[in-house]
Amino acid sequence: MAVTRHNLPVTETRLIGRTRELAEVERVVADVAAGAPEILVISGEPGIGKTRLLAELAGRAAARRYAVLTGRGTELELAAPFAALVEALDGFLRSLGPRHLDDLAQRLPHLAGVFPAVSERSDDEGGGAAERYLHHRAIRTLLEELAAKRPLVLILDDVHWSDPATAEAIAHLVRRPPAAPVLLALAYRTSAEPGILAVALQDAARERHVSRLSLRTLTSRQAADLLAPAPASDRSRIFGESGGNPFYIEQLVRTTAEPGVTEPVGTGDGGPIQTPVGVVASIAQELRQLSADAGRMLEGAAVAGEPFDPELAAEAAGIPPDHALDLLDEVVARGFVRAEPVPRVFRFRHPIVRRAVYDSIGPGRRIASHRRAAEALGQRGAAPATVAHHLALCARPGDDGAITVLGQAAAKVASSAPVSAAHWLSVALSLLPAGEHGRRLALLTPLAQAQAATGSLAEARQTLIQITDELPPGTGLAWSQAVASLASVELALGRDSGVRRRLEAALETLSGPSPVAVPLLVALAMDAAFQGEFERGEQACVKAVAAAHDDPGLSSLAESVLALLIELQGAPRIAESASHVTRAAKEFERLADDQVAAQLDLPWQLGLAEFHLERYEASAGHLQRGIAVAQASSNSQYLAETRAFLAYDLYFLGRLPEAQAVAAEAVEAGRLMRVAAFAAWTLVVAAMSWSLTDARQALRFGEEALTMVSEIEDSMVPDTTHGHMGLVCAAAGEHERCIAHMQLAGAPDFKRFGEAGRRSMWIEALVRSTLALGRRDEAREWAARGEEVSAGLGLPVAEAASQRGRALVLLADGEAEAAAELAQLAAAAALSRGARIEAAASRIVVARALAATGQVTQAVVELRAVRAEMEQCGARWIAQEAARELRGLGAAAPAPVSRRSGDTGTTQLSVREREIALLVAQGNSNPQIARALYLSPKTVEGHMRRIFRKLGVTSRAQVAAQVAGTAD
Ligand SMILES: Nc1ncnc2c1ncn2[C@@H]1O[C@H](COP(=O)(O)OP(=O)(O)O)[C@@H](O)[C@H]1O
Ligand SMILES: [Mg+2]
Repeated sequence: MAVTRHNLPVTETRLIGRTRELAEVERVVADVAAGAPEILVISGEPGIGKTRLLAELAGRAAARRYAVLTGRGTELELAAPFAALVEALDGFLRSLGPRHLDDLAQRLPHLAGVFPAVSERSDDEGGGAAERYLHHRAIRTLLEELAAKRPLVLILDDVHWSDPATAEAIAHLVRRPPAAPVLLALAYRTSAEPGILAVALQDAARERHVSRLSLRTLTSRQAADLLAPAPASDRSRIFGESGGNPFYIEQLVRTTAEPGVTEPVGTGDGGPIQTPVGVVASIAQELRQLSADAGRMLEGAAVAGEPFDPELAAEAAGIPPDHALDLLDEVVARGFVRAEPVPRVFRFRHPIVRRAVYDSIGPGRRIASHRRAAEALGQRGAAPATVAHHLALCARPGDDGAITVLGQAAAKVASSAPVSAAHWLSVALSLLPAGEHGRRLALLTPLAQAQAATGSLAEARQTLIQITDELPPGTGLAWSQAVASLASVELALGRDSGVRRRLEAALETLSGPSPVAVPLLVALAMDAAFQGEFERGEQACVKAVAAAHDDPGLSSLAESVLALLIELQGAPRIAESASHVTRAAKEFERLADDQVAAQLDLPWQLGLAEFHLERYEASAGHLQRGIAVAQASSNSQYLAETRAFLAYDLYFLGRLPEAQAVAAEAVEAGRLMRVAAFAAWTLVVAAMSWSLTDARQALRFGEEALTMVSEIEDSMVPDTTHGHMGLVCAAAGEHERCIAHMQLAGAPDFKRFGEAGRRSMWIEALVRSTLALGRRDEAREWAARGEEVSAGLGLPVAEAASQRGRALVLLADGEAEAAAELAQLAAAAALSRGARIEAAASRIVVARALAATGQVTQAVVELRAVRAEMEQCGARWIAQEAARELRGLGAAAPAPVSRRSGDTGTTQLSVREREIALLVAQGNSNPQIARALYLSPKTVEGHMRRIFRKLGVTSRAQVAAQVAGTAD
């Protein structure tokens, strides 16, 4: 990897001013060598010198022999997915050679969805058919590998013109910078940064230093050099007109201005910034001085792309090849375009110039140029996505070939860049002649999915309405599923009233009960659940069960939702609810994978009902199957929700490293979905998954969730978020805060969030927090309330929480014997459902109570066991709590190994290695670990080698022993 490639314009002029900025550039360049990732953000108006400063950065980094890679956003190609990253990395990847590329395609298959260099070497056409965050993670890993030998600088310029896929990928890198010496340098127009990136940068700035430089205009003294070529009499006018903007000065110096000749240009997506009239006039004047043919060549270049291939530019302009190179020389000599360091690649002097040239092309000629470009690319066998950009700008209604290519391009990027896919599908639809139902549906269906996947719910709703119109009633399940999808989008949009009417109207069109009705009835039930009308929902589900007849998939779905709606009605009917869930699970297990694939909401609904009924193992198993089937069928529709509940199951089951791995994925997918309620729920589960190992991280997830739901009013969504935040605060020892959040969640009644299991756990946290604050009377009241809520519920884990609450109060009141007995019951009840974390929390109370009655030996035995088990689960804090209690009893509780000798035991492992060591200790094989942590088996093997080396062991059993032996 000996290549240093930076394709920023080579400028010979002296850099003026920018002393402070250069010092900062120098600092980050030096710091990244120390091994830490760095983020540098440069902002300022167009022409102010962002690209110039980046070129300085590139030069300095190259002088230190760093690898430097550069890509840019461009104004006219916003639908080209991952454009800036492809520009920065694709050529470089190709330079690595076919063997290296084959290896990358094998190890990081998701790179194929991003980089043509990799997808060309990959047999897996579906490299693009993955969830978006997997592409982001693959890019991150790639950067880590590229920076392994020497620091890497990744420069992304004009980020305000990023296509959404690039913006999401950058946001990912900003939130989770590569664990390697990588400097990510971004430049964008003031106040035009993509929203998703702005949020990510804000979050990142809380974690680490983000260096921000905002460039100002030059003073008249600083501008003197740039003004020098102009006649002395013009200089002060030029400076005044330029406002001290170096690009404007350079432009105005090039010509004698004729202000007022043309309109301002270059507003594009770059925000409200307008290029001054005088500057536009000056560019226009320069263009008039070109020969007519050279002018056409330049127009072809503006159409071809940025950077452009001169051959394509000539073809777009309709110029014969033998004449093209002379014309290219002319436009280069005039300074309109420059050669890049890479052969046959050229770029405009500045994006403003390109925009001015493009805007000067008459609309008819522009269409013709794009058509010629599309044809030329088609003849060269270019990828559909490359051709699609031109087709979208030139195709005529009814152009069959264009519709096909646009559809292909959309399919290719549907999962990695849904916004681009949606754009191309919309264009294809607009070209489609009336009446072609089949083709229209084939375009509308992926369009609705792409829109929903990026949180464009209002658009998705419109598309689904079109789909339901295209599919007349009587089309069977496809129709009722589309109507149900429409209802769920409308629910997410908060248009409740319309949902019910629409579903009821759809049901009326059906004659008698039939399986077709099931999706409609289930949607009706979900709507009712959202309104808190559980009985109405139950009635709909009962009808759904009847309508499902002997269709096992539909009847499993109906039974699952029925179980949930009964469970939500509380105490006396849990057993009834459980019997429905049992039936649903049985039906589900009889389904073949392709039947599950046809109905991916089913594993989620079933898993959800099982979770609420505290069947964590079964729930986890069914959700895992749902994920596997979804991945195999490249359908990510319900994955974020499915993962969130899986993580929650794993948390209860005490499989914390796995819970964290799954929750982290759910969070990434959830954020990309951009629907506040979904994203908040994934964050809540992540907060829980981290609450026993890393309070700061857990609180951060919780806080992000709260920000997301802050605008949602009168709904259970903010209540749930506050309730879980309360739990996280209690675990973090922030008791006042716990109580405050519980109040915001609706304490003492928690009316809007009726689910009894959650309620009992929140109330138990209130017992703990009030006790910790010495407010024993309140604690007593909460304990009583908890018992009331969970009495007769038939949910052992929820009841156990209330028993533990009571036991804590008893212990505080000096009734240790009764406390021990009750806590013992609680621990056993929790264990009966495999809820190891809940059980351990109760066992610590048991031990404290035993100690208080003088049974110190038993207490010590109990605490040692809890500690060892929680170490194994990765529940560090409960283990630590047990250790503290042990020390309090004067029993041997060795201090953490790290504090004892500094570098023995598992403390010298990296976080990732520890995670893996924990999974080894739980008896997982390498492939299992790879699946759990979403790593490649090869990566896990590499980690294992390092773990063996660091621990000085040779077997997995020894790793397990060391993990178990590590205190705190
Ligand atoms: N500090 C500077 N000293 C000398 N020339 C500069 C300076 N800043 C910008 N320029 C020149 O002004 C022009 C516009 O700068 P550029 O970096 O392309 O602006 P931006 O990227 O912010 O739009 C370029 O020709 C550049 O060389
Ligand atoms: Mg620039």
